[in-house]
Amino acid sequence: MRVDVVTIFPEYLSPLSLSLIGKAQASGLLSVDVHDLRTWTSDVHRTVDDTPYGGGPGMVMRPEPWGLALDALATPSSRLVVPTPVGAPFTQRTAHSLADASHLIFACGRYEGIDQRVLDHASSRLPVTEVSLGDYVLFGGEVAVLVIMEAVVRLLPGVLGNADSLAEESHAAGLLEAPVYTKPPVWRDLAVPDILRSGDHGRIARWRRDESLRRTATRRPDMLSGPEAPELDKADRAV
Ligand code: ADE
Repeated sequence: MRVDVVTIFPEYLSPLSLSLIGKAQASGLLSVDVHDLRTWTSDVHRTVDDTPYGGGPGMVMRPEPWGLALDALATPSSRLVVPTPVGAPFTQRTAHSLADASHLIFACGRYEGIDQRVLDHASSRLPVTEVSLGDYVLFGGEVAVLVIMEAVVRLLPGVLGNADSLAEESHAAGLLEAPVYTKPPVWRDLAVPDILRSGDHGRIARWRRDESLRRTATRRPDMLSGPEAPELDKADRAV
């Protein structure tokens, strides 16, 4: 997968060279280029923003540098991703969908956002996805790109050593994952549940499923209703 990130704060994206995202690049599964939007300005002040038409507080990102940046970076197989508080909620499903793309371009907005015409024009040429990390407002899209990249890159084939962990993790089956434990068996008077040390894989699987259901019902009841709700069998309903 190829990724281009356009931002006015390229240093903000430096964590992309660390840890498993860095390793994915070193192993050739991923290439990431971070671009300074000001490269595509032509005035002496390298201006990227201006006051909003219609009045109001803050500044809006001007369309010209964004248009040139997308002209330079977009190919017939690109997808444009714009993190914004007015986007559709970013979910594990979105992460899977983005992981299928061969080329992602992230446009990091700042201030009050990017002139709407940039997105309207881009939509006529390539798929544009506006995504929100949640119902709160960040200074800009940079940190959102780091989050989205973590979620997407770990889904790329070959990035995670153990593909089973993808199948079993929270949100994979529409449920939160059960609690996890490791050694020692007793720590500060707290014991690991006996069943996990029983070696009975059938009962362990049932226990994990029950704990998942209980956790999800308590913490995220919204996940058990609605269109993404998991299918429950008879044993599940007894929990
Ligand atoms: N940029 C600013 N706020 C954001 C949010 N909540 N999600 C994604 N990008 C953003």
